[in-house]
Amino acid sequence: MTDRYAVIGNPIAHSKSPEIHAAFARQTGQDMRYERILGPLDGFAAAVDAFRAAGGKGLNVTLPFKVEAFAYAGERTARAEAAGAVNTLKFDGDRVLGDNTDGAGLVRDLEVNLGVALEGRRVLLLGAGGAAQGVVLPLLLHGVRQLAIANRTASKAVAVADRFAVHGPVRGCGFDALSGQQFDVVINATSASIAGDTPPLPAGIYAAGATAYDMMYGREATPFMRQARERGAKRVSDGLGMLVEQAAESFLLWRGVRPDTATVLRTLRQAA
Ligand code: ATR
Repeated sequence: MTDRYAVIGNPIAHSKSPEIHAAFARQTGQDMRYERILGPLDGFAAAVDAFRAAGGKGLNVTLPFKVEAFAYAGERTARAEAAGAVNTLKFDGDRVLGDNTDGAGLVRDLEVNLGVALEGRRVLLLGAGGAAQGVVLPLLLHGVRQLAIANRTASKAVAVADRFAVHGPVRGCGFDALSGQQFDVVINATSASIAGDTPPLPAGIYAAGATAYDMMYGREATPFMRQARERGAKRVSDGLGMLVEQAAESFLLWRGVRPDTATVLRTLRQAA
């Protein structure tokens, strides 16, 4: 019987996940269907209950439901616990496993697709909301030399850094405290791009050969990407690769097979 999966979010019409998982399923010969669910803002748990009752095997969860998905899961992976958010649910009878594949997706896109080794690098993470918190632990586990978390509301960055300090060299600050510092990798996890805005970064933060990475993606370069190019970042990337890699990691959890992401990413880029 064809197994059912879906992505749930609000809004959801723009999601590329159905296209990505359909490509993975074709490539690996898995008998599955993957849909989109528009989750009611006040009815996430009921919508998930209904999907499970109809035989659904797993869900990807996107904004604004990742924290509710964390609460919904009866069991959680260590990386979901660390992130405090769940983007992947796996249903097995009464059991609900919650995972978070976002951080692994980011690290894989940086290291494998873009060839940016994180070990020994000075990394700057912009933002301290859910998107940022989901990637802190994987970055630290990949041996970065230092991880600075900068946020508009500095106290939030400090609180997030404190929470992860046992795992590696991480500190939090406001944007102005970055003056005079340089980084090899700068990752934008703020939602500033949505408003056409850029995080207020001081000049000179990009070290020679630096990479700028925006976790957002769209048809056009984001304001952060344009700013990074103007300020001399050597390599600038959007977050489409992270989207494909986190999807592959979810697919692996559900189906026990890791799909090849390179061809799917290439196809998506050509279609954009
Ligand atoms: P998400 O789950 O996408 O991370 P969030 O939890 O609402 O969403 O967090 C949004 C992040 O983007 C926050 O770090 C926010 O900064 P504040 O904590 O100071 O609110 C940041 N952000 C949003 N708009 C921004 C802007 N115009 N400039 C800089 N940072 C911005």
